[in-house]
Amino acid sequence: MMVLVLIVAGLGVVALLMVLFAPHIRKYSAGGACMSMTRLDGKTVLITGANTGIGKETALDLAIRGARVIMACRDVEKGEAAAASIRRIYSKANVEVRELDLADTSSIRAFAQRFLREVNHLHILINNAGVMMCPYMKTKDGFEMQLGVNHLGHFLLTYLLIGLLKRSAPARIVVVSSLAHNFGWIRFHDLLSQGSYNSGLAYCQSKLANVLFARELARRLKGSSVTVNSVHPGSVCSDLVRHSTIMSLLFSLFSLFLKSPRDGAQTSIYCAVAEELHSLTGKHFSDCAPAFVAPQGRKEETATKLWDASSELLGIVWDD
Ligand SMILES: NC(=O)c1ccc[n+]([C@@H]2O[C@H](COP(=O)([O-])OP(=O)(O)OC[C@H]3O[C@@H](n4cnc5c(N)ncnc54)[C@H](OP(=O)(O)O)[C@@H]3O)[C@@H](O)[C@H]2O)c1
Repeated sequence: MMVLVLIVAGLGVVALLMVLFAPHIRKYSAGGACMSMTRLDGKTVLITGANTGIGKETALDLAIRGARVIMACRDVEKGEAAAASIRRIYSKANVEVRELDLADTSSIRAFAQRFLREVNHLHILINNAGVMMCPYMKTKDGFEMQLGVNHLGHFLLTYLLIGLLKRSAPARIVVVSSLAHNFGWIRFHDLLSQGSYNSGLAYCQSKLANVLFARELARRLKGSSVTVNSVHPGSVCSDLVRHSTIMSLLFSLFSLFLKSPRDGAQTSIYCAVAEELHSLTGKHFSDCAPAFVAPQGRKEETATKLWDASSELLGIVWDD
C-alpha cells in the first residue's frame, strides 16, 4: 500500500513539474529558428504535401515573404482548406493549390506538364510530402508506398522540373528527409520490399534515399546555380504518425517534447531563403545548422547506384 502511495505521489510530482516547466520545455524543444529576413517578391515556390503539418507552415512563411506559393496536394479539397486558412492569416498571400499524387507517376507527369505550360519560373522546390510506417501498400505503378512517395515520386517530379529550375537559377531544392536516415540502408536486392516488409525499416530506407538523392543531385548540378540540400525537421507533432498506433501513442505521450509544425518548418525555410546558403549544396541540415549524415548517407557509390536503380524503375534518363 505504502509503495502504491509513493508511486502515485511520485507521478504527481513529475506531472506537476512538467506543467510548471512546460513553457521552458516547449521553448527548448522548438529548436533553431530561421532568422533570415529575405523577401521572396517575384519568386515562385513549389511545396509538395503543403495541405498540413510542416508543408503548410512552410507555405505560410514563404507566402508572407512575398512568394507565389504553389501547394501541390493529393487532396485538392484539403489543399484549398489549407490555402484558405493561410489567406485568413495573411490576406495578401499568393497561394494556389494544384493536384499532385506522388503515388501515381501519371499524376506526377500530368502535374509537371501543366506546371511547365502555365508557370514560367521555379526558384524554390521543396520536396516535403511524406508517408510514414504505413502497412504494406503499393503505388499505382507497383512501387512500395514509402519508397514510392518519399523518394521515387519526388525523384520523378524533380527530373521533370529540373530544366525550369535551371532556367530560373539561382534556384534551390530542399529535400525533407529525417534523422531516421541513420537507421536505414538501401536494400538493393529488394528495393521495393517484395521479399519482406518492415514498415519502420522501409521508412528509414526512404529517408536515407532522400539524403543520397540530395547529395547526388547536388553533385550533378555543380556549376548550375541550382543548389540541393536535405533537412531533418526535428520530431514534429503532425499527422505523419497516422499509420502507426505505437508512434501515435509515443507522440501523444511525449507531445510536450515535440516541435510544433511551425517550429518543424524552420529548417526547410532556412534552406530555402538563408542568404549565407546561396551557394552551399549537397549538405544536410537540422535546427537551421549543418547536421550529421550517417556513413551510409555519404557513400558516393551507393548514391550513384540508387540513382541508376531509381531512373530504371521510372524509365527515365537524366541529362548531365
Ligand atoms: N513529423 C515529424 O516528426 C518528422 C520527422 C522527420 C521528418 N519528417 C518529414 O517531414 C515531411 C512532412 O511531414 P509532416 O510531419 O508534416 O507530416 P504530415 O502532416 O503527415 O504531412 C505529410 C504531407 O504529405 C502528403 N502526402 C502523403 N502522401 C502523398 C502522396 N501520395 N502525394 C502527395 N502528397 C502526399 C500528405 O497529404 P495528405 O494530408 O493528403 O495525406 C501531407 O500533406 C515528411 O517528408 C516527413 O517524412 C517529419
